[in-house]
Amino acid sequence: MRRKNAIFMKNEVLERRGFLDMDIDPSLDLFEEIARLKKEKNAVVLAHYYQEPDIQDVADYIGDSLGLAQQAAKTEADVIVFAGVHFMAETAKILNPNKKVLLPDLRAGCSLSDSCPPALFKTFREKHPDHLVISYINCSAGIKALSDIICTSSNAQLIVDSLPREQKIIFAPDRNLGGYINRVSGRNMLLWDGACMVHEIFSLEKIIKLKERHPAAKLIAHPECEEAVLRIADFIGSTTQLLKFAEKDDSSVFIVATETGILHSMQQNSRNKTFIAAPPDNACACNNCPHMKLNTLEKLYLCMKYEQPEILMDEDVRLAAKKPIDRMFDLSRQLGLGG
Ligand code: 13P
Ligand code: SF4
Repeated sequence: MRRKNAIFMKNEVLERRGFLDMDIDPSLDLFEEIARLKKEKNAVVLAHYYQEPDIQDVADYIGDSLGLAQQAAKTEADVIVFAGVHFMAETAKILNPNKKVLLPDLRAGCSLSDSCPPALFKTFREKHPDHLVISYINCSAGIKALSDIICTSSNAQLIVDSLPREQKIIFAPDRNLGGYINRVSGRNMLLWDGACMVHEIFSLEKIIKLKERHPAAKLIAHPECEEAVLRIADFIGSTTQLLKFAEKDDSSVFIVATETGILHSMQQNSRNKTFIAAPPDNACACNNCPHMKLNTLEKLYLCMKYEQPEILMDEDVRLAAKKPIDRMFDLSRQLGLGG
């Protein structure tokens, strides 16, 4: 307990002192420094596809939420540097209580996770005691602790389909992913009314106009997008599924309705294809996740050097949150998705 408080204080002090914006010697080659620190500390860098290109380039593993959770579960590193958002680093900590889990910027949150506060969700769940709770991994440890099974956008449909049809289900926190699963599986899951600010920003009208200008282009979309966008999509999938589809499909032009960070990996994997970011509903670049983009290569280097900020968690919450994640891994294995 004393250790935990001490580290919490250290995190706060570091933020107050401007650790996050600390000057770095401009002569340093951060790519080399990060490689050196990885060896020195036996650290692994796990990065989500929505991270900036430089971070993706230094990562040991780049993946979607399912892949990252699977990597976090099997890593033998002593230090996990999580280049993603808070709920992802929290998941890594839930699975690795004895490892140090670092997040380059502790303020990297998630609008979807924030749309489901545990106290409100607990009351909601208590009103439906006969429902099983499936929560999308994009939620806090507090919500995971109130859930029966966790899923990601890669395995949500298979997990829901594996349950008896008469089973009543609450799906949280994303109403768009939940609505999509309801439509494809013919279920009527009760949906928590949460959403991701990035995936709800796309303009249907502008996407239709873009499709008219590029008639051969395929629209590929993440299931966190709104129903109207999903209805005109040629393919719907998690970030990894979108990446694989773009790699294998014969088309040479794709309109991509998800966070723009994925375009870096898409372009690297399919050099001769063209990827166009689906246009947002306004003039700004709002389909950049502002939370994901709080992490920078500089902050990644500093957090590895000083081993701060660190993710810490109450042990009771961790144990309760681990159960539905383990259930997801068990189901994923049974369904042939690895785990
Ligand atoms: P996936 O990584 O499951 O595709 O989810 C996308 C997302 O919004 C992560 O924050
Ligand atoms: Fe959260 Fe959406 Fe950003 Fe993903 S893209 S971290 S769901 S706000």
